[in-house]
Amino acid sequence: MLFDWTVHITPDNAFNILGRAVLIRPSTEAHLFSSFSFLRHPGPHSFPFVQSFSFVRVRVISLPFLSLPFPSLAMADAPRLTVLVTGASGRTGQIAYKKLEERHEQFISRGLVRSEESKQKIGPDSDNIYIADIRDANGIAPAFQGADAVIILTSAVPKMKPGFDPTKGGRPEFYYEDGQFPEQVDWIGQMNQIDAAKAAGVKHVVLVGSMGGTNPNHPLNSLGNGNILVWKRKAEQYLADSGIPYTIIRPGGLLDKEGGLRELVVGKDDELLQTDTKSIPRADVAEVCIQALQFEEAKFKALDLASKPEGVGTPTKDFKALFEQISSRF
Ligand SMILES: NC(=O)c1ccc[n+]([C@@H]2O[C@H](COP(=O)([O-])OP(=O)(O)OC[C@H]3O[C@@H](n4cnc5c(N)ncnc54)[C@H](OP(=O)(O)O)[C@@H]3O)[C@@H](O)[C@H]2O)c1
Repeated sequence: MLFDWTVHITPDNAFNILGRAVLIRPSTEAHLFSSFSFLRHPGPHSFPFVQSFSFVRVRVISLPFLSLPFPSLAMADAPRLTVLVTGASGRTGQIAYKKLEERHEQFISRGLVRSEESKQKIGPDSDNIYIADIRDANGIAPAFQGADAVIILTSAVPKMKPGFDPTKGGRPEFYYEDGQFPEQVDWIGQMNQIDAAKAAGVKHVVLVGSMGGTNPNHPLNSLGNGNILVWKRKAEQYLADSGIPYTIIRPGGLLDKEGGLRELVVGKDDELLQTDTKSIPRADVAEVCIQALQFEEAKFKALDLASKPEGVGTPTKDFKALFEQISSRF
């Protein structure tokens, strides 16, 4: 179907209308093929009606800004995505939340933490922080209302039993606090969040799980008898079955190193665990979570994620290409 639609394009709305990949012809007509994927944000201002047409012609009647280089097209008024980071007081969660805050021209950042004490880890001036325990389905609901996207970074955290002396050799023992076992946090807690996202009409959920989930005998499962990878995997499946557009990110071992300096590597089915490439900085995981929100190519996909050592390969900048490499839905 051909739909002839005349529209004023200004620097302020250009990104919104033209999206990432419009062909602008010298005749000053912009043709949008397969419309929806070209829209930058499928938010309320990004012409949702376009979805119903298979071919859309936009006749541009004013393009005074086209002499500007493309990246300088103003994005200030592009619709901003409201993004909720849960586990925002965690080590990766804090980074993700701060990245969103820094990109306030693109995102309205929200955080969910479990206590006032957790909130202090982010900083006393942080706005838009909701306090609720993810095991409390009703308590977390307000944080999800009005969110366009959610990044789930909550996880049960094993604690080391006191008395371990590394100088004496042996292995430390771990335990989970009562009520904070992976079954409660990584299964029921994640399930509550996915249900809350669905009820609130959230349009994309990014869930950070973990590599290792294909092996029920993985050593991490025996930590504190928590079966943490088993419960994480169950929550990943619940998300994949939920009908909400999703991205499941399963990183390897997390490093507290600077992000943006490494070539990232994606994989599936824990194959990377058989290689030397099986760790990644938390900052890079946080970045991939945010990038996933910006590309249709990331939706309905699950990926294992690791990084080459710093100085080996080329630091990843093209995240669209990264997501295009993935074909696994789970
Ligand atoms: N560590 C690794 O090497 C590794 C490897 C692969 C994947 N991962 C996964 O990657 C993700 C990020 O890891 P990370 O080490 O950066 O996370 P982290 O620092 O352990 O943070 C976990 C977060 O979950 C929150 N949380 C736990 N129980 C909660 C509850 N009942 N209600 C609300 N919030 C709750 C914690 O809140 P508080 O701040 O209040 O404690 C914390 O903010 C996790 O899913 C982790 O399992 C980790």
